[in-house]
Amino acid sequence: MSSGGRTKIVRLLQDGEAGSEVTVKGWVRTKRGNKNVAFIALNDGSTIDNIQIVADVAAFDEALLRQITTGACIRATGRLVESPASGQRVEIQAAELEVYGTADPESYPLQKKGHSLEFLREIAHLRPRTNTFGAVLRIRHAMAYAIHKYFNDKGFVYLHTPIVTASDCEGAGEMFTVTTFNLDNLPKTEAGKVDYAQDFFGKHCNLTVSGQLEGELGAMALSEIYTFGPTFRAENSNTPRHLAEFWMVEPEMAFYEIEDNMDLAEDFIKSLVRYALENCMSDLQFLAKMYDPELIDRLKFVVENDFVRLDYTEGIDILMKSGHRFEFPVSWGLDLQSEHERYLVEKHFKKPVILTNYPKEIKAFYMKQNDDGKTVRAMDVLFPKIGEIIGGSQREESYEKLAARIAELGIPEKDVWWYMDTRRFGSAPHSGFGLGFERLLLFVTGMANIRDVIPFPRTPKSAEF
Ligand code: 4AD
Ligand code: MG
Repeated sequence: MSSGGRTKIVRLLQDGEAGSEVTVKGWVRTKRGNKNVAFIALNDGSTIDNIQIVADVAAFDEALLRQITTGACIRATGRLVESPASGQRVEIQAAELEVYGTADPESYPLQKKGHSLEFLREIAHLRPRTNTFGAVLRIRHAMAYAIHKYFNDKGFVYLHTPIVTASDCEGAGEMFTVTTFNLDNLPKTEAGKVDYAQDFFGKHCNLTVSGQLEGELGAMALSEIYTFGPTFRAENSNTPRHLAEFWMVEPEMAFYEIEDNMDLAEDFIKSLVRYALENCMSDLQFLAKMYDPELIDRLKFVVENDFVRLDYTEGIDILMKSGHRFEFPVSWGLDLQSEHERYLVEKHFKKPVILTNYPKEIKAFYMKQNDDGKTVRAMDVLFPKIGEIIGGSQREESYEKLAARIAELGIPEKDVWWYMDTRRFGSAPHSGFGLGFERLLLFVTGMANIRDVIPFPRTPKSAEF
């Protein structure tokens, strides 16, 4: 029960026994009262709820009580008693109070309640102390745990794919170069190009945009793997759904065809949302109350209903016949924008949609080619309020077809020889997908901006600490 010489507030509020002697430690949310009695609301991050500490003013040094202001960190020891106040089962009758750290009310940025999310983004170092970010960060943790649990229960192996990689053929976006060169004095080849042969790794390296290609190497031996780690994209997309550093979950499965892949993706998301409903209810209720009254209904709806499965070509048809005016006009071959995805999901079907069989031109080289010569076995899972939450595909397992596609796209064999080896030796049908972890969190928390579901967001022109 006790950790760090205290009991966590979540435990006391749930099943602390009235009459017992307890110690709590945490940060003061508010202090109010009169000349006889002080009420301190204390939070230690273990739950959205505060515990109330009641202090008899006469029993404490006046200077000590004055230091107990919003934001200060304190210890309180005393008797847990049934609370006469409504909305809380128990409170603490303080016998001892100790101040660990004061927070000057003149300068503490969270002195008042009700700051805007924009303002809190500017003080991301302190925002975990707010109710909102406490709730979001606990849910983020719960979802990370649920992801590992889901795959572990199914016998998938967690494969750690590299963050620094020389592979740049995914085509998923612009990359960040990793180098130890002195940028003011770059070694050059005779042709005047930067000579990466002299760099740390002896070649041009970058931060990974996806663990998939290495994930496939694992799947072709362990049969079912997943990766879960940070990925990086240097695209200059300043939208509420893009980060330059985000986390991705990428399962990769030998012997799965596209239908198996869709079944897994749907079951996976439903199971994560169910986990949130079963384990994060007080945080969800808080977020629903503050930001998004329909949040919990929307989560239940996703768990209880089948996703629509639709061909890209049918999707384009629906969009063209919709009569809706889109910013990007619709025609076959279009790389769908978020406005199109959201139209299908929110207006037309009112359900999550899995879109398949996209034109090969707008998808990556490794996707399995259909017999029509035009489309590939891609699948994107599209969600209300978010658009694309998952991107994946069945992979091309034929060496000949893959080699032909690589040649067509001008990808040098020397860059992908190791990837091609999986098709050269013991190739097998296989599939996989990538779930954007922060996109999932946008859905589960109901937050509207992706900067508010990651502790330390990295976006263009923004990377404090
Ligand atoms: O669709 P993407 O680019 O797919 C891949 O990278 C594949 N290699 C995945 C695979 O098949 N293993 O990215 C996958 C998901 C997207 O659906 C989206 O949810 C998320 O990653 N994502 C981003 N999330 C936040 N910020 C960004 N800039 C993102 N780009 C993609
Ligand atoms: Mg995608």
